[in-house]
Amino acid sequence: MRVCLTGGAGYIGSHILVGLLEDGHDVLVVDNFANSSPKSLDQVRIITRSSFEVLDQDICNSGVLSEALSSFRPDIVIHCAGLKAVGESQEQPLRYYRTNVEGSISLLEAMDQAGCQRIIFSSSATVYGTPRYLPYDEAHPVAPVNVYGRTKAMIEDIITDWAATDPGRSAALLRYFNPVGAHESGEIGEDPKGIPNNLVPYIADVATGMRTELSIFGNDYDTRDGTGVRDYIHITDLADGHIAAMAFLEGNQGVETFNLGAGEGSSVLEVVKAFSRASNQSISYVIKPRRDGDVSESVANSSKANDVLAWKADRTLEAMCADVWRWRSRYPRGFDG
Ligand code: UFG
Repeated sequence: MRVCLTGGAGYIGSHILVGLLEDGHDVLVVDNFANSSPKSLDQVRIITRSSFEVLDQDICNSGVLSEALSSFRPDIVIHCAGLKAVGESQEQPLRYYRTNVEGSISLLEAMDQAGCQRIIFSSSATVYGTPRYLPYDEAHPVAPVNVYGRTKAMIEDIITDWAATDPGRSAALLRYFNPVGAHESGEIGEDPKGIPNNLVPYIADVATGMRTELSIFGNDYDTRDGTGVRDYIHITDLADGHIAAMAFLEGNQGVETFNLGAGEGSSVLEVVKAFSRASNQSISYVIKPRRDGDVSESVANSSKANDVLAWKADRTLEAMCADVWRWRSRYPRGFDG
C-alpha cells in the first residue's frame, strides 16, 4: 500500500515506519523535525535497508501538503504529527490548537484533494481524563483535563464528522497508553529534547549518569506501593497495532476507536526496579509531592483491539527496559550525540 506517515521521524512514527517498510509498503514521511531529528530516518534506512520519500513540511502548510499528497496518492494516512507535552500545552494553548487541530484539518483537506479516504489517528488515553472506573474501555466518557488532551479529543471528533459525510471513508482512532521501549536493534528510540517529562527517559538519564536522581512524584496514592500506576506498552507493540489497524480498515468502513495498552499496570517503583535490573545500574530517587494533573492509576482494557484487530501487546516491562538501555548505551545523548 501507499502510506503517508505524518510525524514519521518522531519516537512513535519512526517505529511505525520500520514496521511499514518491513511489510513492503511505499511510504511518504511528512515531518518538520520540530521535535525530532532527521537522523532517526537515516537509522530507519539502516535497520530496514529500504528507502522512502520525505517531505520536510509543517502539516499546517496546506498548499504544499495538498500538492504532495495529490502527487503521492496515498491509500491511507497514519497521522502521528503533533505536539505532545501536557505541561507545555497548558502554557501555550493556541500553539497546541493550531498545530494539532488546524494541522489535522489541513491534512484531511489534503486527503480530500488527493482522493484518500482512510486515516489512522494517534490519539491518547489522556482523552479519558480522571477515571470514573478502571480499566478504561472505549466507552469510558471522554473528559480530558488538559489542553493537550482536548486537542486529541477535538481531532477525534473532527475525523468522525469527516468520515460521516461519505460511506467510503474510514478511520481508526488509536488511544495510546504509555509507550516506552526502543527498537530491539538499539538504533532508534525516544530522544526527548531538554529535561524529560516522562518517567522512562528520565530514569534512563539517571542510569547513564546524565542526571543525578529521579524525582518520584508522590508515594501516597491509593496503589499497591503508593506510587502512580500506568499501563506501559512496548513501542514495537504499539507500532504493530497500527499495522493491524491498517489491515482492519481495508475491509471495514466507518470509524472505530481502540485502546492500545498492555492491560496491566506497573507502579513507578516497579519501573525503577525493572530498569535497574535491565541496566545493572542503581537508580537514585527522591520522593517529591504529587505532580499537578496526575491520576493515581491509568490502565487499559484493550480487549476490543485484541479481538477486532487480532493484536496484543505482549512484550514485557523487562524487554521495554532492556531495549531502552541498549538504545541509550549506544546513543547516550540520543541522535545528536
Ligand atoms: N513520574 C515520576 N517522575 C518523573 C516522571 C514521571 O514519578 O520524573 C511518574 C508520574 O507521576 C506517573 C508515572 O511516572 O505516575 C508516568 O508518568 P509519565 O510522565 O511518564 O506519563 P503520564 O502517564 O503522565 O503521561 C503519558 C504521556 C501523555 C499521555 C498519557 C496518556 O506523557 O502524553 O501518558 O495516559 F497523555
